[in-house]
Amino acid sequence: DWKMDAFVENAVADIREKVGDGKVLLALSGGVDSSVAAGLLSRAIGKQLTCVFVDHGLLRKNEGDEVEAVFGPEGNFDLNFIRVNAQERYYNKLAGVTEPEQKRKIIGEEFIRVFEEEAKKIGAVDFLAQGTIYPDVVESGLGGESAVIKSHHNVGGLPDFVDFKEIIEPLRDLFKDEVRKVGLELGIPEDLVFRQPFPGPGLGIRIIGEVTAEKVRIVQDADAIYREEIANAGLAREVNQYFAALTNMRSVGVMGDERTYDYAVALRAVKTIDFMTAEAADIPFEVLQKVMSRIINEVKGVNRVFYDLTSKPPGTIEFE
Ligand code: XMP
Repeated sequence: DWKMDAFVENAVADIREKVGDGKVLLALSGGVDSSVAAGLLSRAIGKQLTCVFVDHGLLRKNEGDEVEAVFGPEGNFDLNFIRVNAQERYYNKLAGVTEPEQKRKIIGEEFIRVFEEEAKKIGAVDFLAQGTIYPDVVESGLGGESAVIKSHHNVGGLPDFVDFKEIIEPLRDLFKDEVRKVGLELGIPEDLVFRQPFPGPGLGIRIIGEVTAEKVRIVQDADAIYREEIANAGLAREVNQYFAALTNMRSVGVMGDERTYDYAVALRAVKTIDFMTAEAADIPFEVLQKVMSRIINEVKGVNRVFYDLTSKPPGTIEFE
C-alpha cells in the first residue's frame, strides 16, 4: 500500500527529528494501537524505545506469551522490552471484590502502580509515547459514551506518575483501518493487526462477580475454544466482537452418571459499526452447538453454555 508506505516513511523521519537521541517509554498492551505505535517507534529509533508490557493475569489464553514472542528479545523488533508478570498482584487486589466499577477501578489503579514502579527503575525519559488514534482524539473531546457509562481506564488525562518531558503520539491522525495497514507494513503479524477489540480491564469484566485464578482459567479456556471455532467457521472478520464470559451462576447438570454443580459460560458475539449500538450476531446454530459441546467436554468446571441475544442498548457489549 503506497499511501501507508509513505506514511511510515514520513512518520519515521518525524519521530527521528523530534526524539533526537532522547529516550522514549511506551506502555504496550498488546492491542492494535500500542503494538503499531511500538513497531513504528522501533523502526525509527530502535533501542531508544523501551516498551513496558504489564501482564495483569486478565489477558486471553496465551496472549502474554504472544505479545512477548512479537516484541520480546526473540521477536523481530529492535527495542527494549520489559514484561511485568503482575498476575498474583492483581488477583490479590481483586480477591473478594464483586462490584463492577470497583473492579475496574482496582485494575486501572494497579496498572498505574505497576507502570510507575517500572518507570522509576528506568529513570527519567524524554518522551512518553501513546498509541492514541484519531477516533480517540475526537471521542475524548466529546466525552465518549462508554467513558460515561463505564469507566475506561485507558482513556484519561496525562499520566503524572512518569518522569517525562513530552508526549509523542505517532498515530494521532490515523483511523483504525489505516493503523492496521501501517501495522502490516511494519511486519506486525496479521492476527495481532486484525485482533478484535479487547477491553483494558480484560477478563476482569468478563467474569461476573469475584475474580479468581481458577475463574480466569475457565474463561480463558472457554474463550479460546470459541475463538478457534469462529475462525474455523470463517466468521472471524465478519463478527465485530465475540468472546466467552463467565457468569457467576452455578447449576446442576449430569456428566456420565455423576451429578455436577458447575458454572455457566455465556457466549457473546455482536455486529456493530461503532460499538455504541450493537446486535447479537446470528452465528449458525451448528457452530454454537460445536462450541457448547467442546466447552463442556474440555473445560473443567463448566456444565452449561448460554448464547447472549441482547442488543446494545439495552445491554452493553461487555458484561460489566
Ligand atoms: P460496552 O461494554 O460499553 O463496550 O458496550 C463497548 C466497547 O468498548 C470496549 N470496552 C473497553 N475498552 N477499556 C477499553 O479499552 C475499557 O475499560 C472498556 N470497557 C469496554 C468493549 O470491549 C467494546 O468493544
